[in-house]
Amino acid sequence: MKPLEQRLTWCASFIEEALERRLSGNILAMESPMTQAMRYAVLGGGKRIRAFLTIEFCCMFGGVPEDAADYACAMEMVHGYSLVHDDLPCMDNDDMRRGMPSCHKKFGETVALLAGDALLTQAFYCIGNHDAKESYAANSLAVRALSRCAGALGMCAGQQMDLAMDAQDYDTLKTLHRLKTGALMEAACLLGFYAAKGEPDVNIEKNLETYAQNLGLAFQIIDDLLDVNSTEEVLGKPVGSDAKNGKCTVLKFLTEEEAFEEARRLSQEASALFADYKNSDSICQLPMYLLNRKK
Ligand code: IPE
Ligand code: IPE
Ligand code: MG
Ligand code: MG
Ligand code: MG
Repeated sequence: MKPLEQRLTWCASFIEEALERRLSGNILAMESPMTQAMRYAVLGGGKRIRAFLTIEFCCMFGGVPEDAADYACAMEMVHGYSLVHDDLPCMDNDDMRRGMPSCHKKFGETVALLAGDALLTQAFYCIGNHDAKESYAANSLAVRALSRCAGALGMCAGQQMDLAMDAQDYDTLKTLHRLKTGALMEAACLLGFYAAKGEPDVNIEKNLETYAQNLGLAFQIIDDLLDVNSTEEVLGKPVGSDAKNGKCTVLKFLTEEEAFEEARRLSQEASALFADYKNSDSICQLPMYLLNRKK
């Protein structure tokens, strides 16, 4: 295995264990369909890209993975919630996720809705519970960044645009992609930096935002292409979902070749941003790796 792939595999199992601890025992003491659905939605699958960004940026800025564990778990909880709600019949109405029945297929819509709500809330508990030395400043920066990026100024705004299918031009679609996908990546990168440093830095935050937005745009372009070109078996979620729902995707404005080229250009731009930093290998290699992903 190549070093980046090794690192991704290591991070995925690190975060899986960290999530397991935070979604069991005292934390969710009252076992119920909702808590089972929360665990189902977050454990056992997914590429863990957002957790990876948080952990790797933390390490790049001088921390160790454990410093980033609470924030990385928070990222995966918010991401998990976004997928549970995204799959609901009132949204994309998709029956499969990560190779398994989607959360509402397994637990019913009401429980899936609640599990999503509870995961979003639990994510902020994870941040607030981060109790490293002098972590109050970092925690408050993390809450601010994640709430901005996940809510009405971020992912939810993107999902609203996605549902309205109102992108009349490519620039508007880019705004949609930036919000629905780039915003959570931005939070993941910022939280990694805060976990390591605990204080703001306008220049670094700007670079993190640019990296995440380029990565997020490229990521959503490839997601749109996979929805057309992959199979449910490989992807672990339905293909043709966008067409079924009449979604506006990148293919409304670009050919497949043009779209891939655009994703390649964005990935290269992201790769270059932290090239001068020490210990930035995985951060620099990740965008090109994700460009060629199969799921
Ligand atoms: C899916 O995200 C939702 C999009 C933003 C396209 P991922 O492709 O990262 O999903 P998992 O976590 O690996 O299942
Ligand atoms: C969803 O985009 C992005 C989210 C905010 C969850 P998609 O609807 O294209 O994601 P998939 O294809 O279902 O994973
Ligand atoms: Mg969707
Ligand atoms: Mg969807
Ligand atoms: Mg999709």
